[in-house]
Amino acid sequence: MIGDYIVNFKELDSTNRYVKDNYSHLKCGTVVTAKKQTSGYGRLDRNWYDDTNNLTISILLTNFKTRHMHLLSQLTGVAIIETLNHFDINAMIKWPNDILINNKKVSGILVETILNEESATVIIGIGLNVNTKSFPDELKQKATSLKLETNKEYNIDQLLSRLIDHMNILVKQLLKGNLSFLQICRNRNALLNKTVHLDTLNKEGIVRGIDENGRLLVEIEHKIMSFYGNEITLANFY
Ligand code: BTN
Repeated sequence: MIGDYIVNFKELDSTNRYVKDNYSHLKCGTVVTAKKQTSGYGRLDRNWYDDTNNLTISILLTNFKTRHMHLLSQLTGVAIIETLNHFDINAMIKWPNDILINNKKVSGILVETILNEESATVIIGIGLNVNTKSFPDELKQKATSLKLETNKEYNIDQLLSRLIDHMNILVKQLLKGNLSFLQICRNRNALLNKTVHLDTLNKEGIVRGIDENGRLLVEIEHKIMSFYGNEITLANFY
């Protein structure tokens, strides 16, 4: 089960990198936490800003066999949404891996996989801005924290414990083929009916939903097209 083993570090370059380097001697379900990350990273090799007041963790799943593996990013998004709900905080999911409050990013998810012949090793990295009081100028317009949004400080261990509970429930469901969490992704889809620029295609489209494979459905020139998270990057949604 996720969280049966928790390895806490005061400082690491990146919890995802640590798990990638050490997965062969870590147990399935291990959660690695760092009070401070010196070079946390996100999708597309972007830096992950962190100032010690936040939750930065990676979860290791070994021998993971499911044809639904590509849904893990969305499943994790739902676990974060449910965790925040518990603290009376409403957030939205910006497909495929960002969590937003008031249109600003409060959390990011980075799922990395190492594929073996029959199964996969999965590393789920989660960064949640909890008690950060201010962001550097270049992030101010885009990033937020729970503290900035609610004017309250939160206990990071309590948030982690809820998050682990929700991850366990959802992963168990996924392994049984129950994909009902996708409904929450749809209900909390920050992009719904928004116009997005699809960088990779250099086209604009209108987001119409999320399908049963977790693909984003985008209307482009009156046709609905579907995309996996690694197939497109989006810019300027409005
Ligand atoms: C993104 O926004 O593209 C994803 C950001 C993921 C950041 C988390 S923080 C914990 C884990 N360790 C990392 O280096 N990255 C992830």
